[in-house]
Amino acid sequence: MYKIQADELERYINEFTSIQLLYKSALREINTKLEILNDEFQSMHEYNPIEHIKSRVKTPKSIIDKLIRKGFPLSLDVARKELNDLAGVRVICSFIDDIYMIADMLISQDDVTLIKMTDYIKNPKPNGYRSLHLVVEIPVYFSNRMERVRVEVQIRTVAMDFWASLEHKLRYKYDGTAPEDVVEELRECSEQIRILDEKMTQINRTIRGTTARNLSVSE
Ligand code: GTP
Ligand code: MG
Repeated sequence: MYKIQADELERYINEFTSIQLLYKSALREINTKLEILNDEFQSMHEYNPIEHIKSRVKTPKSIIDKLIRKGFPLSLDVARKELNDLAGVRVICSFIDDIYMIADMLISQDDVTLIKMTDYIKNPKPNGYRSLHLVVEIPVYFSNRMERVRVEVQIRTVAMDFWASLEHKLRYKYDGTAPEDVVEELRECSEQIRILDEKMTQINRTIRGTTARNLSVSE
């Protein structure tokens, strides 16, 4: 099928290594921004909006799988142009208010350009998936050049993350053919999680003495 020569393979590996460096660097920049916001909140308000952060650069296998799935030619240039999630960060918050606050603070920074925002909290996916997705672009500086790099940022509550990881396992196991009753049960869980998240957010507002925030992000 996709037979290649040794020199071509070496070229691919070199190209992939340099792209990995680029995206890993972008992840470090975004991570630092998020950590600074979290630390500042801790020091000023004795409050941590972020529970934890996970980040990853997409593996060569997932890049190839996704290019094939989307019908794109197998090339790293195409991947860089067409795939938004070569670098991905997942930010886990305790409360829904924190999600929008972190998103707002991140996209209002001068060197962060918002490319796309999808609010799966206000508009959950039909399967019940909920999260706030941002695709942002940030500059990364090297010895002799600057590159703008796109990073996908998924922001969700602990409970939404709990749901998404179980749904991911289901998807992986059945590859799109999951039994309808299991799919339906997960949908119900998502609704219960929504109710729980909203109650917890409300209680947190009461404890912290804050009023209801306008839960929308400046676009
Ligand atoms: P891709 O799905 O990445 O091709 O791009 P898209 O433009 O459709 O983006 P979308 O925002 O739908 O999804 C991006 C990422 O969010 C995925 O790669 C997953 O990590 C996550 N995601 C989206 N939908 C679901 C879902 O239904 N379940 C789970 N567990 N994760 C999801
Ligand atoms: Mg998708």
